[in-house]
Amino acid sequence: MSKIGDIDVGDFPLLLAPMEDVSDPPFRALCKEQGADVVYTEFISSEGLIRDASKSVMKLDIYEKERPVGIQIFGAVLESMLKSVEIVEASGPDIIDINFGCPVKKVVSKGAGAGILKDIDLMVSLTEAMVKHTKLPVTVKTRLGWDDDSIKIVEVAERLQDVGCAAISIHGRTRAQMYKGEANWAPIAEVKNNQRMHIPVFGNGDVDTPEKAMLMRDKFGLDGAMIGRASIGYPWFFKEVKHYFETGTHAAPPTMVERVAAARRHLEMAIDWKGETLGVFETRRHYTNYFKGIPHFKEHRMKMVTSDASADVFAAFDEVLEKFHDFQFV
Ligand SMILES: Cc1cc2nc3c(=O)[nH]c(=O)nc-3n(C[C@H](O)[C@H](O)[C@H](O)COP(=O)(O)O)c2cc1C
Repeated sequence: MSKIGDIDVGDFPLLLAPMEDVSDPPFRALCKEQGADVVYTEFISSEGLIRDASKSVMKLDIYEKERPVGIQIFGAVLESMLKSVEIVEASGPDIIDINFGCPVKKVVSKGAGAGILKDIDLMVSLTEAMVKHTKLPVTVKTRLGWDDDSIKIVEVAERLQDVGCAAISIHGRTRAQMYKGEANWAPIAEVKNNQRMHIPVFGNGDVDTPEKAMLMRDKFGLDGAMIGRASIGYPWFFKEVKHYFETGTHAAPPTMVERVAAARRHLEMAIDWKGETLGVFETRRHYTNYFKGIPHFKEHRMKMVTSDASADVFAAFDEVLEKFHDFQFV
């Protein structure tokens, strides 16, 4: 049984990874319904939050039904990070997560995200200050290291634990790798095998089949799996992993009726949350995966991803349901 602070997250929890422009409240709610045990917001800029930049502040919204939820923030300036802890706390998350893994240049160049992997002392001192500044559990998401020559994740994780970090999620790539190559879970297992580690160690990177989740649990011995890309437009992935764990067999893929219902609810929740224009726009990226594998689907997909009015998108869903009602997904 894993615990993040006092929060019981069960045996080998499945965590929805923080994903920019993806892990918004509607999507998190759908993943939660389909078996995600913990969900995280996309990363939110501490500098944006303290300036009250509306785009950052909107990302703090959470629904009751998605709990336990972690709000992820990034930054490298102590004062801004501490102030944003206070702002984040006001929206009532269960967990505060620090992003020490984002590889993109505009974040790294400011010493934030994976940039901090070049200054482990700062990484540890920022974490310690944040832990002391809140009663909420503080978790960290990071990568193996800056590059292949600087993988010190065992030592880093232990130091983070020692300053009060409540759990650590590790993406099995270095910053230099960005998203290339395969995620390497062996160093994450080394973190877990460190006798001094007692906080949960969650593995991340390339878990895209139930078999891989099982490997992460049984061969690598990790405490849970954080899942990103495999869930985009496919919130059923969490349930499928759990079904596989319980039965050793693959669950039947969601039917057309279920897919259309999910796409519909996703869009409804998004409109409810952000209004018609943004709701329609930001849900588009999920449709390809919701309806993956259907032949001659382009015309329908185009309608879904180019229509500006929700009524047209809903009409496209209805057409698809009628035309492909009995389509057998594999
Ligand atoms: C579209 C996208 C957005 C992402 N945004 C974030 C983010 O905001 N914060 C973060 O810590 N990681 C972010 N990541 C990284 C993921 O959380 C995860 O570490 C990575 O995708 C590897 O896991 P996966 O193979 O299961 O996708 C993002 C990844 C993707 C694909």
